[in-house]
Amino acid sequence: MTAEAKQLVPGLAGVPAAESAISYIDGNAGVLEYRGYPIEQLAERSTFEETAWLLMHGQLPTKSQLDAFGRDLSAVRELPDGMLALLGAFPKTAHPMLVLQSAIAALGAFEREVRFGDEEDFRRAWLRILAATPTIVAAFERLRRGEQPVAPRVDLSHAANFLYMLNGEEPDEIAARVLDVALVLHADHTMNASTFAARVVYGTNAGPYDSVSAAVGALHGPLHGGANERVLRSLETIGSVENVRAWADQQFSSKGKIMGFGHRVYKVKDPRSFALQSLGDKMFAKLGHTPIYDVALELEKVVVERLGDKGIHPNVDFFSGIIYQKLGLPTDQFTPIFAIARAAGWLAHLHEQMQDNKLFRPGQIYVGEASRDYVPIDNRV
Ligand code: COA
Repeated sequence: MTAEAKQLVPGLAGVPAAESAISYIDGNAGVLEYRGYPIEQLAERSTFEETAWLLMHGQLPTKSQLDAFGRDLSAVRELPDGMLALLGAFPKTAHPMLVLQSAIAALGAFEREVRFGDEEDFRRAWLRILAATPTIVAAFERLRRGEQPVAPRVDLSHAANFLYMLNGEEPDEIAARVLDVALVLHADHTMNASTFAARVVYGTNAGPYDSVSAAVGALHGPLHGGANERVLRSLETIGSVENVRAWADQQFSSKGKIMGFGHRVYKVKDPRSFALQSLGDKMFAKLGHTPIYDVALELEKVVVERLGDKGIHPNVDFFSGIIYQKLGLPTDQFTPIFAIARAAGWLAHLHEQMQDNKLFRPGQIYVGEASRDYVPIDNRV
């Protein structure tokens, strides 16, 4: 191994782990594109279904392709009784991300084998994982509330059907569109921790269910998808615009990380957070203002004043929680909703990995003891 290859890069920051044609970020210019299409245009004009297709196929679908995809997807939304029984067996206090991670792996056990490299098998798993993830999240939510799961409908969009399965009634148009756009914005984001985890597992020729389950585990962490839940808790703790500066000063002096700010790649404001904010503005105008949004805007001002020079700006998680709360979604379901969206990206990455797979096997720099003699237990002090 060359001396250069032995250089440690903590967190593999910036080390290319694959060639990918799925999404692109310019962190200094605040650019995010899916398959070459700017995120702003997709947020404005696309839907989650169309975006999921685009991520997988590299092209926008024709009308007949999109119609067929919508039909195929909605046909496999329902869960078998065994899965519902399994979801009902979890403690009601379990974090929904732990349940989702287990349930995706379990779903694979209920499905036919997926042969690595087989396009037809992969397509079946792609549809099933995309379609069943919202059903799992909604079913567990209802079960833990002590309610019966609501069966999915085939005539509703991915976003509208999810809200329908949660609440048992058809959502209004604005709520469904807001969630739809949030799903588009979260659908892919280059080689982040969960996508890398998915590709590492898939690289061993494991199946898509194993790989997506691993990705859900990675997404759960507060440094990744789990941040949106923490943001809302921070905003609730702050409570009012007047309290923002004192709360932030305390975080600055204790060197605490303020959730929803900073990003490995973006050194300017995350382009997705602009789109979420304009979505929020439209929603608050229709459904009523939410005071926590004012707290968030003040916090953004104070944090950027202090840390903006270091490249610390709001990321996507900063505004998503406020929007989800307005949609009436429980705080600990924010990250599962992120997973519903990101499943589209994970699966596109698995498909890309399948085309030219190479097992991931990074090196290490060994810093431990060497060549020690075993000491029998009676001789140890
Ligand atoms: N609040 C306060 N300070 C922050 C910060 C935040 N959210 N994010 C980074 N910083 C500071 C660090 O304390 C560090 O300061 P120092 O140079 O004085 O030690 C500097 O900025 C670099 O931080 P570092 O953690 O090394 O950057 P990173 O690129 O590894 O981290 C994140 C990226 C996302 C892990 C980090 O910004 C973070 O933890 N953010 C909060 C969690 C979050 O919102 N995650 C969702 C990401 S989409």
